[in-house]
Amino acid sequence: MIHFNPKTRMLNLILRSSVYAMQIDNKDRLVHVVWGPHPVGVDGVLSGKIKPILSDHASFEFQTRRDELLTFGDTTTHEVTLKASFATLPDPLPDGDAPHLPIRDVRLRYVSHEIVTDAQPGLAPAHGLPTVNREPRETLRIQMADPVQPLTVTLCYRLTPAQDIIERWLELANMGDAPIEIEQLFFGALHLPNGTTELTSVSGAWAQEFQTQRERLPIGRRVIEHRSLQTGHAANPFFLLNRPGQAWEEHGTVYFGALAYSGSWQLSFEQFHSTDVRVHGGYHPADFGLTLVAGAQHKTPALVCGVCDEGWGGASRRLHAFTRERILPIAVAASQLRRAALQTVPLESHETGGAVRTPAAADYRPILYNSWEATYFGITEQNQIELAQKAAAIGVELFCLDDGWFGGRRFDVAGLGDWTVSPDVFPNGLEPLISEVNRLGMDFGLWVEPEMVNPDSDLYQAHPEWALHFPGRPRTEARCQLILDFGREEVVEHIFNALDSLLAQYNIAFIKWDMNRNVSEPGSVVGKAIWQAHVAGVYGIIDRLRAKYPHLTIESCSGGGGRIDLGILGRTDQVWTSDNTDALDRLRIQEGFSLAYPARVMEAWVTHEKNHQTGRSHELSTRFDVAMRGALGIGASLNGLDEAELKECASYIAFYKRIRHIVQGGDLYRLERLEESDASTILYVLPDGSEAVYSVVVHSHKMGQFRRMVPLRGLIPSATYEVLDRYQKVRLTATGYELMVQGIGGDEDGRSGHSRTLHIKRVE
Ligand code: GLA
Repeated sequence: MIHFNPKTRMLNLILRSSVYAMQIDNKDRLVHVVWGPHPVGVDGVLSGKIKPILSDHASFEFQTRRDELLTFGDTTTHEVTLKASFATLPDPLPDGDAPHLPIRDVRLRYVSHEIVTDAQPGLAPAHGLPTVNREPRETLRIQMADPVQPLTVTLCYRLTPAQDIIERWLELANMGDAPIEIEQLFFGALHLPNGTTELTSVSGAWAQEFQTQRERLPIGRRVIEHRSLQTGHAANPFFLLNRPGQAWEEHGTVYFGALAYSGSWQLSFEQFHSTDVRVHGGYHPADFGLTLVAGAQHKTPALVCGVCDEGWGGASRRLHAFTRERILPIAVAASQLRRAALQTVPLESHETGGAVRTPAAADYRPILYNSWEATYFGITEQNQIELAQKAAAIGVELFCLDDGWFGGRRFDVAGLGDWTVSPDVFPNGLEPLISEVNRLGMDFGLWVEPEMVNPDSDLYQAHPEWALHFPGRPRTEARCQLILDFGREEVVEHIFNALDSLLAQYNIAFIKWDMNRNVSEPGSVVGKAIWQAHVAGVYGIIDRLRAKYPHLTIESCSGGGGRIDLGILGRTDQVWTSDNTDALDRLRIQEGFSLAYPARVMEAWVTHEKNHQTGRSHELSTRFDVAMRGALGIGASLNGLDEAELKECASYIAFYKRIRHIVQGGDLYRLERLEESDASTILYVLPDGSEAVYSVVVHSHKMGQFRRMVPLRGLIPSATYEVLDRYQKVRLTATGYELMVQGIGGDEDGRSGHSRTLHIKRVE
């Protein structure tokens, strides 16, 4: 609910268990009042009687004022949300004065506000596919304007009360007739209570993504960031913040936020000497430049933020539910599409009535087989068909052909850019393979890396000017490839057409969209605007493809987990979490991933016994128990497995099919984290408490240390549950109360790699 008191000019945004309040002061400035959880069962409006202690008089401390939108001009000593410069003077100069151009001073004053429904932030998906929950949401739009310069800024706040989430974004407009240079632009700033200085975030690298780091903010500034054309491995754009010692996994007030953007980004955390904390998130200031020509507008993507009183776990569950219900698109199941075509029923008819849709079995991520680690670049029609037959026999639902099927791509040195099927590998095109995959009852998927070009390719020979570069300067190759200039409309069009032809010609249900390098020499025909233009180009192609092929689903990959964020998730269905498929390394990667992103999108493969990345060996049970925590896939060469092992795989896959609605749709409780333990224990519980999945994996065994029992969470205390193993054998019958007080007794012997997954089902 959004409430405005015209007397006090207080604006209250009231969510399920939190409140966000602002006030328009007597100088028409918009001042932040408070943001935090409200007591259970109380959702009253704050009157504005209690004034924050602020001072803007002192000559050195005037930054204690808490403007909702911090602009450069009267604020210069601290971080700002917006810095703009004006090349002209609006009024004639008083005698004796000089122009002092460019004018770098923005003062925004309140003009008006309105409450609308279903407003969209910048770069919102344009594919038109629905999300699980389509209930309209209130958005508060507060118009501010500079009293002298022709710049207006609208602050937008879209509320998702059920998850205590507010999406913040800005809309800028140049109302004058001269260009305005925007030199710095975040999507929003957050003012947190003083002392909120414990930061949880992730750092990483290729094959080591999502390593959790927890630290105390220093007084001064700490940034997490990535400067490239994708989200990056080195960090991920989300954070959790709390007062040190006052929040834990399931307790305490935790603020959280994430950027819905896949380009060069920064989250900047400022702690003042007063211990007040501000967070700024949005476009990375490095090499940023945006010219707002006369009459132009710019809408930023969203900074998604929230607060809860249920610890880090509560923050993660809110982000997960928000992503599942409000961000992920729902593709039209291919079978429904065929039916709709037969009956000439409009496609929309696949929707059930009402705004909140109950997911059907077809809405969960299918079990994927990917042949990359089985055949690498040694693809033949025959070896793919053999793998597909074996995959179908163990229960796989989607078969994905990875790199190497196109152009001159016989290794990673050539061919990117030439998106036509290579006759050397598939003399009869992809048709024979796809028909066989479909005949086996599976969907077919294809790997592409559309933003890239190898200098050794027909595309580059024809259009060397299409790669990012600065004329006359060297072009740095990485993995022998360059990045296409998505600032050129003809390049975006060319890539769209190449993918469109493939999708039109073949029955492709899934694409794995890869991106395998960081940027260098970001020279583009659009200049500095390339940072946003690249992201808009990628999003635009995906949105057009999804609109045209509503059954298509997409995996976002960038050398593993380099493009995972709430922006790309608005147009993809799953992500490739990491190229590192070592089960024990994956545990830590998946734990960090789970801080912000739901299991449903976390593609996790079971690969070879001796892992190709780390050379370590793990039992099949460990590999399955870890991969079944996300969207299960298989990446091992099935040719190397004997009948007994294939049977074992089939049994795990059958088990996963029984529990996947819980893994992919349940609430996550991290019962035991690797951060503080030698084992990882997690629980997924359906929101109604009727079923759960319990998963424990011992990471590093220490002699003399025994496993302990870990109490469960989220169950119904008075209900009786059966605890079933993979063979559906009842291992234990107990009440929710017993399970939540004692935990599940068991046979963990503490060995590294020892693991179990159990299905918990309410029986009474
Ligand atoms: C990236 C991906 C891998 C695989 C290769 C193919 O590294 O992360 O899964 O697709 O590219 O070249």
